Formats: sequence, C-alpha cells, structure tokens
Amino acid sequence: MKKGFIFDLDGVIVDTAKYHYLAWKNLANELGFEFTKEQNELFKGVSRKRCLEILLEIGKVEATQEQFDTWMIEKNVDYLKYIENMDASEILPDVPKILEYLKDRKHPIALGSASKNAQPILEKVGLLSYFDVIVDGNNVTKAKPDPEVFLLAAEQLGVNSSDCVVFEDAVAGVQAANSAKMISIGIGDAKVLFEAKYNFNDFTEIDTNFIQDLINKN
Ligand code: G6P
Ligand code: MG
Repeated sequence: MKKGFIFDLDGVIVDTAKYHYLAWKNLANELGFEFTKEQNELFKGVSRKRCLEILLEIGKVEATQEQFDTWMIEKNVDYLKYIENMDASEILPDVPKILEYLKDRKHPIALGSASKNAQPILEKVGLLSYFDVIVDGNNVTKAKPDPEVFLLAAEQLGVNSSDCVVFEDAVAGVQAANSAKMISIGIGDAKVLFEAKYNFNDFTEIDTNFIQDLINKN
C-alpha cells in the first residue's frame, strides 16, 4: 500500500512560533506580566484555548468566561496582523524539496495541525496545492497528544495508520503520532523530541534517499 505523509504546520513547514510568541507576549504585557521565549516552548502544538489557560496560570490572572473569550479573540487578531504579509520566503529550508519528491511519486500528503489558521497560511506561502487533505484546529475536538488529528488525516487520505509518516516539531505531536501507530519524525532538537522514531534538526538534513527507504519499508 502507498505510504501517506502528514506534516504539522507551525515549526515544520513555517516558523510561525515567533509570531504566536509575539502575540501572546503582547497580551501578557497588557495583563501586567512577562512571557518569555522559554515559556513559549510549552505552547508548541498546543491549542489556542489551552495556551491561554497556561498563560493565565503563568501570570496568576483570574478570568471570567467573558474576559477569557475576549482575550482569545484579541490574541488571534494580533497574530493575524503578524502573519498578514507572510510569503514563500518564510517556508523553512528544503520543505518544498520533500513535498515535490512525494508529489512526483503520487504519495498522498496531509496537513495535521492544531491551528485554526492553517489553510490561509498555506495559501500565503503558496504550498496549498501540495496537500490532498487538511485536518486542522477547525476539524478536531481533542488536542495533541491525542492522536485524533492524525487518525482523521489518515482516514481522509485513505491510508492505514501504520503506513503514515508524520513530521512534527512538538513533543505532544510526536506523542500523538506514536499513539496513532505512525512513523514519527521529529524536526528539531533530538534531546527534546527523543520519543520520535527518527530525528532531524530540519529538512536540510533529510535526504530523498531516506524518504525513499521509508516508502520501500513494509
Ligand atoms: C499550533 C502551534 C501552537 C498554536 C496552535 C493553535 O499547534 O504550534 O502554538 O497555539 O497551533 O494555533 P491557532 O493559529 O489556531 O491559534
Ligand atoms: Mg508544530
């Protein structure tokens, strides 16, 4: 059976973590506390709602439901301003090389992201046409490390879970891929993503021979 390939978005295809960080930091500052880059690491792969819950815990801020909802919207409006002018220059190195290799060989490709902004970002950077299926924060109810996002992607691709390969930069994402019984590839620090089956710092380290070996594996 053909292998299916599932890509996370933020931190795998584009480096939007820096924009998420700025928007959360602005909100934290407005609420009267600091939010550091180290703390932002906890937000990778985590839904917007859960991020705000963690942010408020960090700042020891109590919120009414109404304030919570307002801040969720405020953060996203701010984030949308940062990503408004994104273009192909923000695609992480060698991502198109791998997408092209898979497309040429007619392997189904899916996006599996927690973000509700995934589709417009793919459009802005010009990669939307590579994806046969998009499963994002608008389609799932359970956040990574729950495997729902990847299982749904496999189902929509028409590929068995065990024949899917997942590229992830978040610990929760690697765990989600592992619980879906997929082949997990960690993109980033191997010490952090040690649960992944394979690790690379970025796509420049991924050779097309490695991809071909994965394709050939039973
Ligand atoms: C990705 C990012 C997270 C972000 C989440 C929701 O998983 O890694 O940092 O919180 O998407 O993104 P959204 O664009 O819907 O706020
Ligand atoms: Mg990510």
